[in-house]
Amino acid sequence: MFKRIDHLGIATRDIAAAIEVLEKTGPIVLGAEEQVPAFGVKAVMVAVGDGVPVELVEPLGEDSGVAKFIDKRGEGLHHIAYRVADIDAALATCVEQGFRLIDAKPRHGYAGSRVAFVHPKDFLGVLTELVERDAGADEPPYDPA
Ligand code: CO
Repeated sequence: MFKRIDHLGIATRDIAAAIEVLEKTGPIVLGAEEQVPAFGVKAVMVAVGDGVPVELVEPLGEDSGVAKFIDKRGEGLHHIAYRVADIDAALATCVEQGFRLIDAKPRHGYAGSRVAFVHPKDFLGVLTELVERDAGADEPPYDPA
């Protein structure tokens, strides 16, 4: 059901500081910075060369799951996101396979995507995001502007 790795999510307390670190490596392409209220974060997608883009996520408040993640484990790799064609079908497959879902139904993600998370305990120990994007929003950094 996975088409490709969509992005890698990095949890940071400060998106601007994280961008400065990435820019030390050379030119990068930034998507639009967006608030994603469903997850209590702001996020920006960063294209680094031709590879899988990096999503920087910064908590908007202490009740955000990302804030709790950083408190517990520090800043760093937070999730791997896989692109799916049909997120409702993908979630049904996850249920059939016995994977516990953090999101039983898709939520609104970055740049108009529909996303849902699978529990890391059932998926290789890694928080796993499923992402469905509209056709035409296919290339990083997924800037809807
Ligand atoms: Co993500």
